[in-house]
Amino acid sequence: MSWKRTHNCGELDLQHTDETVILNGWVDVRRDLGGIIFIDLRDRYGITQVVFDQKNKELHAQADQLRSEYVIGVKGSVTERDNENINPDRETGRIEVRAVDLVIYSKAETPPFEIKDDIETGEEIRLRYRYLDLRRKKLQDNLLLRSKVAHTIRNFYHEKDFAEVETPMLMRSTPEGARDYLVPSRVNPGKFFALPQSPQTYKQILMVSGFDRYYQIVKCFRDEDLRADRQPEFTQLDVEMSFVDEEAVFAIHEKLMVRIWKEHMGIDLPIPFPRMSYKEAMESYGSDKPDTRIEMKIADLSGIVGKSGFKIFSKTVEDGGKVVAITVPGQGAMGRGALDRLTDEVKSQTGAAGLIYIKSESGKRNCSVGKFLDEDTVEKMAQKAGAGSDDLVLILAGSVPRVYHQMGILRLMMGKRYNLINTEKDHFLWITEFPLVTWDDESARFHALHHPFTAPVDDDIDKMESTPEVVKARAYDLVLNGNELGGGSIRIHEPGLQRKMFRLLGIGEEEAQEKFGYLLDAFKFGAPPHGGIAFGLDRLIMLMAGARSLRDVIAFPKNQRAQSLMDNCPDRVDQSQLDELHIRLKKSIENSV
Ligand code: AMO
Repeated sequence: MSWKRTHNCGELDLQHTDETVILNGWVDVRRDLGGIIFIDLRDRYGITQVVFDQKNKELHAQADQLRSEYVIGVKGSVTERDNENINPDRETGRIEVRAVDLVIYSKAETPPFEIKDDIETGEEIRLRYRYLDLRRKKLQDNLLLRSKVAHTIRNFYHEKDFAEVETPMLMRSTPEGARDYLVPSRVNPGKFFALPQSPQTYKQILMVSGFDRYYQIVKCFRDEDLRADRQPEFTQLDVEMSFVDEEAVFAIHEKLMVRIWKEHMGIDLPIPFPRMSYKEAMESYGSDKPDTRIEMKIADLSGIVGKSGFKIFSKTVEDGGKVVAITVPGQGAMGRGALDRLTDEVKSQTGAAGLIYIKSESGKRNCSVGKFLDEDTVEKMAQKAGAGSDDLVLILAGSVPRVYHQMGILRLMMGKRYNLINTEKDHFLWITEFPLVTWDDESARFHALHHPFTAPVDDDIDKMESTPEVVKARAYDLVLNGNELGGGSIRIHEPGLQRKMFRLLGIGEEEAQEKFGYLLDAFKFGAPPHGGIAFGLDRLIMLMAGARSLRDVIAFPKNQRAQSLMDNCPDRVDQSQLDELHIRLKKSIENSV
């Protein structure tokens, strides 16, 4: 039995005074003040105060049994609160409901943590009792925002003639990039599907089929090491378009962001978004996803110190490395102890061998390796780094690109520590002109920086064999406040060029045919020029909601060990299930699970 509610718990106000209403919800808090029982009744819309006085003895006795998280229905009349009892922090704070009837739908055990925001409770316990965690307003707000943004996205693409097409969740394994999640096939013994890391090849094939403009809000799966901004199972907003160049992809997606920010943040985003080459991002910010809300830029001191008497500098430059610096404003007087601690931190967090600095106090420079350098050189270094009279210059020396990565980490560390992040505006930024491939020492071969389907810049195609490392890709990323929100590219659509790309990546003719033959074949039958992009929907919502982890915007996320603690998986399966799938576990594993 359930009473039909007349209102939700977030909507009653003075205009409803004297109306008889029915509310359903959860007991948030119960207070007993001199025999009068107050219940804060909660649902996803808000909280309404319900009062049980002592006039109706039976009802009062019933209300006395109520505890937090009981699910109840209440009938009562809306009453204006006295001035001194008004709660200005609550939408319904000017009224209360005087109960005349009550029904208890469900009792509840005492929850393992309080259902309120900003609780200290550890994340493991919250994930174990996710259904309780999801009763908290913050998480509900995040999921509701997610739902609304998805709606905006669908409207946007629908208006622009995009077709939403669902691509398979069971596909062939293509272990490029991250590891695949595999699914054994019962009816094809010894054979496996993979869960998609992204629908990349399918969306390209849809272009070959003439779908022209495709989008999908789609689950993707990657078995990779987890961080706060990575989940093994996450959602992409995946898009592909035919007969487009980079400009068309940028333009439409800038409009999408403008729409989302306007509708859900009440903010008018200025467009076009700024653009920055990969080279500038790396050399000025030490990252391919620079947080440009921090003004600090990396300066190259190599030209000044390359021929100095200080061996670490001269040797680094001789070997083709760089000596780079950032300037932390106003920290020129940092004490020796603090600088020693910072040096240890930099070593452990960035892997740098050491940290060199120039302190400045009222214009007086003091360099940690000053005895190896003349005053003039130290002054030039400070000037090049842009140091004022009371700033601190931090210097790292090393090989490229490593030293830039290290400086990028140090830059963010300093930005956060000294409140140098200007949070007034969101910084969207396109990163362009990525290299097509990077050399990987470990596997001794080139890897695609984005993926193997990304087209090289036309003018660079003839360099793919001779000097692959200088070839630029028609790839782009969208960065928001130092986070990679999305990435995409204009694709290769010619089988010959695609084969050449596979060759460059050390994927032989036979292997290419076996793994990607279907795509190469499709290209033989009339492939339009095409390109696209995919955004991390979870990341987008996380940034919009100001959440710190993807787990705060996903209803049922995995923990750091890729486990779901609520339903306790992954888990063992019955021997009979394994038998059906023709799978035998290794002895060592069999004994440990
Ligand atoms: P990419 O691999 O860059 O591109 O992924 C696109 C976006 O997806 C998000 N993302 C993730 N979010 C949460 N957890 C993860 N483990 C995770 N991995 C990626 C990021 C990222 O920018 N097929 C190409 C797109 C294309 O070329 O069109 C692709 O998947 O926000």
